[in-house]
Amino acid sequence: MTLISVAQVAYLIAAVMFILSLAGLSKQETARRGNLLGMAGMALAIVATIALALEGSERPVGVTAALIVGVLLIGSLVGTWRARSVEMTQMPELIAILHSFVGAAAVLIGFNSYLTEGHDAMHLIEVFLGVFIGAVTFSGSIVAYLKLAARMKSAPLMLPGRHLLNLAGLVASVALGAWFIAAPSVWPLAIMTVIALAIGVHLVAAIGGGDMPVVVSMLNSYSGWAAAAAGFMLSNNLLIVVGALVGSSGAILSYIMCKAMNRQFISVILGGFGAEGGTTPGGSGAGAVEGTHTEVDVAETVELLSEARSVVIAPGYGMAVAKAQYPVAELVNRLRSRGVEVRFAVHPVAGRLPGHMNVLLAEARVPYDIVLELDEINDDFPDTDVVLVIGANDTVNPAALDDPSSPIAGMPVLEVWNARHVVVFKRSMATGYAGVQNPLFFRENTAMLFGDAKTQVEAIVAAMPAVETVDA
Ligand code: TAP
Repeated sequence: MTLISVAQVAYLIAAVMFILSLAGLSKQETARRGNLLGMAGMALAIVATIALALEGSERPVGVTAALIVGVLLIGSLVGTWRARSVEMTQMPELIAILHSFVGAAAVLIGFNSYLTEGHDAMHLIEVFLGVFIGAVTFSGSIVAYLKLAARMKSAPLMLPGRHLLNLAGLVASVALGAWFIAAPSVWPLAIMTVIALAIGVHLVAAIGGGDMPVVVSMLNSYSGWAAAAAGFMLSNNLLIVVGALVGSSGAILSYIMCKAMNRQFISVILGGFGAEGGTTPGGSGAGAVEGTHTEVDVAETVELLSEARSVVIAPGYGMAVAKAQYPVAELVNRLRSRGVEVRFAVHPVAGRLPGHMNVLLAEARVPYDIVLELDEINDDFPDTDVVLVIGANDTVNPAALDDPSSPIAGMPVLEVWNARHVVVFKRSMATGYAGVQNPLFFRENTAMLFGDAKTQVEAIVAAMPAVETVDA
């Protein structure tokens, strides 16, 4: 057996491991095994690729080996450092920037492949498509990173005739593609790269804050297709398989997110939402919400809780920022030990990552069976005594249902206001990620408990036994 066929077998095994890894990741209970399989598959793939690179090396093998070890070392050092230092709340930014690497790699491989290999039509199409997808993924992911890291306004950029601009970019790229294939030269490739980079920036900049979840999964999908394109250019079967897996799972995730947010995928990609409402941070589409809010303190919240028989907790991004999941889990224990029914209401886009809240609650060892999805719990709010909204905002905003001009109009939300009492834990009256004010805060049965969510929940937990002794 030659080394090449051994490597191909290793690639096949790695591909199967990646598929099993995805299957494992689909359930909380098997996610750890899924991760391990993915890591093992990647290790196998890297070893096989290095062996192939050394075998086919045109330079002295020692030089190729040194180059590979050098980049592997740098990559692993930077990767390990970032993975260790990144906060859970920064994960979406990290993912976005990692997608941009895949895009950049596809562009570089495309140029390299064009400059160093033959120019038959099939290869030219692979190169052109690979560079196009790679460039859109690269610049789009950088804008997504900037938006998610709050280094760029999350409001959509609304250029006049923006759909026409995208269309013009696409038509120009097709024309350049025809030129590239008819008379191969680096010029059409380079001009198309600049246009594709601009399309990537524009596509993501035009998407409003509330629709960012779909953008993250969409770029995830693009990065997969970019990797698959790179696989075609490098004639690497594993890269094609892995790229197709990432591309299609990202597309499925985008579809799921769109359904959860009641959005049309095409409209989200084209940045159609939030446009008509004229989104400005701090105001809903129909103008800023006004009214007076009621404040409560820890003692009053404890009193409310001590009279409650059923409590629902709606967590959001603020719980992740405050790392309040641990005291929240402790609060749940205390309440349950007093016979109170406690459940969690998790919105599909709460936080900044798909499944963000589930991960945090699992980390704090909250039992899975009391963590319910939006459609499982939305009808139960009228029978709920107290809802604790912990750092959630957009996902509990009634404007999504009441105000057709709101940028988040049509998104299903947790209808917490139907409960008897709602206590909102946040630090100020500031808006959530979508930049729209929340009329919930001004409702009669809503009270604001201002302050850091962790500090406030800890204070409530500390006050709970005292209430029990007083009651006794
Ligand atoms: P958000 O609407 O983002 O609101 C979070 C709230 O938490 C803020 O209003 C903030 O108010 C509060 N907060 C922040 N730090 C806090 C702290 N230390 N203590 C207490 N409160 C704190 O939250 P959400 O309801 O989870 O909605 C998620 C939003 O992100 C949606 O618009 C969604 O579309 C978007 N998004 C989601 C994803 C995914 S995949 N889940 C990805 C990208 C974007 P203060 O500043 O007043 O404290």
